[in-house]
Amino acid sequence: MTEVARKRVGVLISGRGSNLQALLDACADGAFPAEIALVISDQAAAPGLERAARARVPSQVIARRDHPDKAAHDDAHDDAMTAALEAAGVELVCLAGFMRLLSEAFVDHWRDRLINIHPSLLPLFPGLDTHHRALAAGVKLHGCTVHFVRFEMDSGPIVGQAAVPVLPGDDAAALGARVLTAEHQLYPHCLRLVAEGRVEIRGEIAEIPGIDPAARLVNPAP
Ligand code: GRF
Repeated sequence: MTEVARKRVGVLISGRGSNLQALLDACADGAFPAEIALVISDQAAAPGLERAARARVPSQVIARRDHPDKAAHDDAHDDAMTAALEAAGVELVCLAGFMRLLSEAFVDHWRDRLINIHPSLLPLFPGLDTHHRALAAGVKLHGCTVHFVRFEMDSGPIVGQAAVPVLPGDDAAALGARVLTAEHQLYPHCLRLVAEGRVEIRGEIAEIPGIDPAARLVNPAP
């Protein structure tokens, strides 16, 4: 059997970690082109840390200093994360429900090696409360996006998207659950494409030369 060169991935979380779980499950297959080398949480109580432990993946809590402005950047914190990721030999970083804005230095250091999953079809609905906002806007398709991270929140070249229908009677919880199921499919799929080195960024557009266009979309059943 040929050995696959597996990219070493760091995953940053703040909470539940269901997307982390989807990535751990994908990486549990030795043929997957990535392995999770380190999980970092900024919250000591994040349930996602138990998921890392169960998968026998090293984790670290790197807590942010208390800051009255929750949206403020914390450069020292993010430098500490870069140091830990580098020490673990990480080559690619996945944000999976990491609920803080990252410093410019962090985003620059990991440029084109840092991806995020966001629960909307970007560029629609960047930021929080995406499911409420999708319902309020009356969109008929909603979904999630995996994208390379740029300094401006929820922006950057799009690797892939998954769409789900908005159904009559949906509330934010029902719609969010449908999107989350799609997230768990989309994130490992996109990580595979990035880890295989198939994604090229040209003029801030992520291109995947030679790919069947259908393979970068996860579409809803009618
Ligand atoms: C997901 O909806 C993700 O798209 C967003 O934060 C949520 C994290 O959920 N960025 P989980 O911690 O992965 O379960």
